[in-house]
Amino acid sequence: METSILQPTADNINRAAAELTAGALVAFPTETVYGLGANALDEQAVLSIFAAKGRPADNPLIVHVADPAAAEPLCELNDMARALMAAYCPGPLTMLLPKKPVIPPVVTAGLDSVAIRLPSHPVARQLLKACGIPVAAPSANTSGKPSPTTARHVLCDLQGKLEIILDGGECQVGLESTVLDLTSPIPTVLRPGGITPEMLADVLGEVRVADSVMRPLKAGEKALSPGMRYRHYAPVGKLSMVKGDPVRVAELIRHLAAEAAQREEKVRVFVFEEHLPLYAQLDAVSIGSLAQPESVAHRLFAVLRQADADGIHVMYSEVLPAQGIGLAVMNRLNRAAAFTLLDADALEG
Ligand code: TXA
Ligand code: MG
Repeated sequence: METSILQPTADNINRAAAELTAGALVAFPTETVYGLGANALDEQAVLSIFAAKGRPADNPLIVHVADPAAAEPLCELNDMARALMAAYCPGPLTMLLPKKPVIPPVVTAGLDSVAIRLPSHPVARQLLKACGIPVAAPSANTSGKPSPTTARHVLCDLQGKLEIILDGGECQVGLESTVLDLTSPIPTVLRPGGITPEMLADVLGEVRVADSVMRPLKAGEKALSPGMRYRHYAPVGKLSMVKGDPVRVAELIRHLAAEAAQREEKVRVFVFEEHLPLYAQLDAVSIGSLAQPESVAHRLFAVLRQADADGIHVMYSEVLPAQGIGLAVMNRLNRAAAFTLLDADALEG
């Protein structure tokens, strides 16, 4: 099968909608990351998503719809869901709600809840409106890889496995949506994203963040969100995070980079724009501005993918405070680094 990247003209969106309706896979842009879509009501089509990604069958998918009316037949909406939709949808928020029977079990991996999302990207909205069906879509990457934030990233992972990738440019948010469980007594964030816990609390009052968001699962512990169980967002090379005073962080990274270079390993450093001058003579790339954490969310996955493309063996990254969008950034960075965190202040004499 030949895979084409198509510009999102009205004709191409209609062509992609026809493909979806006929049971084929289509990759499309959302404001968070690119999705790999299939008709959520067609079991065979949904199964082909799992095959294309190499995704474990027990990891459920998000169902995308254009508007609240289209969500109605799929799940039991409650007052919290309605209030959140009014405040933040369309947008980077996914709500877990009790499913209705029309959703096939393959979509939810047999769970009683279904994940519902109303994306805001104009191309995603036009596609959903044109096909008029709910679209199941995980991130359009090979399972385990960083999520794709450009059409090229999708092509890189899934070439030959689908016909159409709609090109909507770079995804604005850059990290996947916030996954919020609305089936538990207290709404609980299972995956942090563009809609922050602070924003959710503004509407709901009380919101919990699952404590597994910022730490690895313990042996035998059950993941609330099955996706959190798997190796995720991981580059091929070895990534470590380094925290502490920026000058000490730079000193430690210089020291470690020199050691790695002696082992003939290719080293890259991910630093905030403001700190680039501390890293002269090293292969240092900006991961965005410390003063604008949303710029770090926007760039993170592209920077991780570029390191793979450049054959980098060892990476060191600065860290953000885990607040606001920084919580989502650190959730992904921790997983990409397999929770390896060095403390430059503690190592200093
Ligand atoms: O921004 C996004 O959410 C993107 C775009 C394409 O919409 N999609 C995305 O899908 O990130 P995916 O499949 O890569 O991540 C979905 C996450 C997984 O961690 C999955 O386990 C969780 O949502 N999930 C889905 N349905 C669930 C359910 N019923 N119960 C618990 N977790 C669920
Ligand atoms: Mg994913």
